[in-house]
Amino acid sequence: MNHTFAINIFNTFKMSKGLSSSSIGRKLMMAMSGFFLLVFLLQHFTINFLSVISEEVFNEVSHFMGTNFLVQFILQPILMFGVVFHLLMGMYLDRKNKLARPVKYEMESANNNSSWISRSMLITGVMIMLFLALHFYDFWIPEIKIKYIDGDMSGLHDGKFRYWHELNHKFHDIYRVAIYCVAFVFLSLHLMHGFQSSFQTAGVNHAKYTPIIKLCGYIYAVVIPAGFILIAIYHHLFRVTLL
Ligand code: HEM
Repeated sequence: MNHTFAINIFNTFKMSKGLSSSSIGRKLMMAMSGFFLLVFLLQHFTINFLSVISEEVFNEVSHFMGTNFLVQFILQPILMFGVVFHLLMGMYLDRKNKLARPVKYEMESANNNSSWISRSMLITGVMIMLFLALHFYDFWIPEIKIKYIDGDMSGLHDGKFRYWHELNHKFHDIYRVAIYCVAFVFLSLHLMHGFQSSFQTAGVNHAKYTPIIKLCGYIYAVVIPAGFILIAIYHHLFRVTLL
């Protein structure tokens, strides 16, 4: 197994002939940051899906995540770095690819329909980042303000946990629901290629395992964004207005 892995890494290096070794390093770092974001997205989805199942459990988990030292001061800064790194490195590698083979790239574009999603990674990635700007404005910035500017770490509003109601309230607006849902479609397209591509870049290229990884990638790319759509629509349909 170790032997096969070493050969796969070697093959990846060979396949990338013409690129400098530091370019391969950058591609690997891109794949690693992609893995990391895949793991984040899974946990983010799981926690947010709790809001559909139980208001109480969602509130408890949100409060734990929002007040835990490790999550707030170690994992969250690493996550922010990972997001920015993934965006900037993605733009850099895309630019380098296009400069290295502009003519061939256009021919491939015209001929190979199956790689439409892979050729659109920059566009879908930038759309996700635009969504993140809105998403941070909606959720993350108000949360930081309440906790670290107003100094209120209680998580309470009128004696009750405020997290579920705040989330529900955001999705009262049908336009926000629509924008989020469109963004989740871009997310799905991005993951469709990104999932299996990060494994490939890491050198996992195996007759038996690669088709399984591809299948897992498709399932992940459909189930997670569809689940996010469901969360947004659920909160729009079951709007709760506090008196
Ligand atoms: C219906 C879907 C979603 C809901 C309801 C949701 C909800 C939330 C909430 C409530 C927060 C604030 C957490 C806190 O700081 O206390 C948050 C933060 C965040 N969300 Fe989402 N989110 C959704 C989809 C997404 C997607 C698709 C992505 C990535 C593509 C994403 C990325 C982030 C990031 C990076 C943060 C800041 C880090 C964090 O606090 O965990 N979210 N989201």
